[in-house]
Amino acid sequence: MEEHKSEIGRVCVTGAGGFIASWLVKLLLSKGYKVHGTVRDPSNEKNDHLKKLDKATENLQLFKADLLDYNTVEAAISGCEGVFHVASPVILSGISNPEEELIKPALVGTKNVLKACTKANVKRVVVVSSISSIVSNPDWPQGTIMDENCWSDEEFCKSTEDWYSLSKTMAEKEAFRHAQETGLDVVTLCPSIVIGPLLQSTVNVSSFLLLDILKGSSEYTEKDRNWLFVDVRDVAEAALLIYEKREASGRYICTLDPIKIGDFFGMLKNIYPGFKYHKNFRELGIDLHMSSEKLRKIGWKHRTLKEAVSDSVQYYEEAGLLKKE
Ligand SMILES: NC(=O)c1ccc[n+]([C@@H]2O[C@H](COP(=O)([O-])OP(=O)(O)OC[C@H]3O[C@@H](n4cnc5c(N)ncnc54)[C@H](OP(=O)(O)O)[C@@H]3O)[C@@H](O)[C@H]2O)c1
Repeated sequence: MEEHKSEIGRVCVTGAGGFIASWLVKLLLSKGYKVHGTVRDPSNEKNDHLKKLDKATENLQLFKADLLDYNTVEAAISGCEGVFHVASPVILSGISNPEEELIKPALVGTKNVLKACTKANVKRVVVVSSISSIVSNPDWPQGTIMDENCWSDEEFCKSTEDWYSLSKTMAEKEAFRHAQETGLDVVTLCPSIVIGPLLQSTVNVSSFLLLDILKGSSEYTEKDRNWLFVDVRDVAEAALLIYEKREASGRYICTLDPIKIGDFFGMLKNIYPGFKYHKNFRELGIDLHMSSEKLRKIGWKHRTLKEAVSDSVQYYEEAGLLKKE
């Protein structure tokens, strides 16, 4: 399969200090890319881990940029042949102003990034979307596998006040609209719940979810519902894969096969019998069927759920986020 890596040396990663982006920056540096990483505050110590990555001194340049400030975004993207747009607010609860907290940064942020990409003649943009822009679709036939043709319904998201899904759906649609209008090469990656070890010192939302489960404080307890996970290192590999493979196009679901929540708890209890687990399951009976067949077909390899969980737990214990069993 043809790759266009040889022509491409300098890339930009937005929101470089975040959970997924940090692993992506690490991967890109390890492959010899020169990386422009955007962060909102380069002097904030929460971004210090980036400066310590292998080859960061020579090949990583941090740019102070806010997605809502076009000029800062343009400065970071200028001179890059490729862009990974990862930055977007991940807020799932306690939202008082969805427009300001989620929709604007996701949508205007994507518009600004893509406008700057077009101006800089970027060869390909990978936009990190989410399965949240796929799954909130009440019209998709129950029990059938959701693939890349399925889109979350914006009106449904509004009616259920699922503002995060709305923000991701609007941003991803905007990315393809811009691509169609300008001819910019845009591919999107839609990961499920991302777990795995952290490079950054702050704990992101999806890592909190697994930590909550292991501490017995999780509210996500619908036993018969499918859950979908993926390891952060495999998400970074997938983003690079769809960037480098010329034939990649459109959307790519990035997830391990679904697991019933009850079975997931069973697996955890088996490996970690000493942790405290929530005992009451609420039964919802809604099933999500989804597969990453399209991504696997272009060569995506991934860790098993057991590996992803054990490496996460090992990291949480070493970092003092979880008491050892
Ligand atoms: N984790 C998951 O389970 C998951 C699943 C599917 C998709 N995703 C998507 O993956 C991406 C990264 O998520 P993550 O889990 O790595 O979350 P994260 O660690 O919270 O990273 C989010 C990043 O976005 C940046 N950001 C937010 N608003 C910004 C703004 N106005 N200007 C500039 N930067 C801004 C944050 O910068 P600051 O550090 O300055 O706040 C942070 O670097 C997001 O697009 C998310 O929707 C995540």
